Amino acid sequence: MLQLTDLIRDIPDFPKPGILFKDITPLLGSPAGLALAVEMMASPYRGQGIQKVCGAESRGFIFGTAIAQALSAGFVPIRKPGKLPAETKAISYDLEYGSDTLEIHADAVHPGEKILMVDDLLATGGTMKACCDLVSGIGAEIVGITVLIELLALKGREHIGGPIDIHAVLEF
Ligand code: PRP
Ligand code: MG
Repeated sequence: MLQLTDLIRDIPDFPKPGILFKDITPLLGSPAGLALAVEMMASPYRGQGIQKVCGAESRGFIFGTAIAQALSAGFVPIRKPGKLPAETKAISYDLEYGSDTLEIHADAVHPGEKILMVDDLLATGGTMKACCDLVSGIGAEIVGITVLIELLALKGREHIGGPIDIHAVLEF
């Protein structure tokens, strides 16, 4: 039987010494693995009236577009600074060292619109929290968050906080 965990490999000391990187590229390269991952990420939100799926550059784009299609929703890219051509809203958030910024087109989601947030990985939750703040700052309704992998030890759920439903296909 197909096991998604068999398609995720551990790479030691990437991108820095001491970090064990969860490499999803074997899963992406497997037709059955990719289809199963997308279905397992999307299915809890089927029939919930999701209008747009939002995903952060870069790996959020891979699953975000596929999940949008699976839910008959649109896809909204949340991008690194200076990439989006029209009017944007930006948010900066803290990293272990320094900070990062993400941007969304100001007219990409609308007040009251039902949104599903997507990323490959929930680690500290910093990226997802910033994305959620961008979307809810415009007044759209975040129905849920779906990720392929949650790294439980990093307590991303606590960082995101609030009542938002978070679905993780795999937990490590
Ligand atoms: C990775 C991953 C998530 C984020 C999770 O993205 O794709 O977006 O980190 O970490 P966090 O919960 O601690 O914020 P990364 O910034 O490495 O960039 P990429 O998607 O462009 O590879
Ligand atoms: Mg990412």
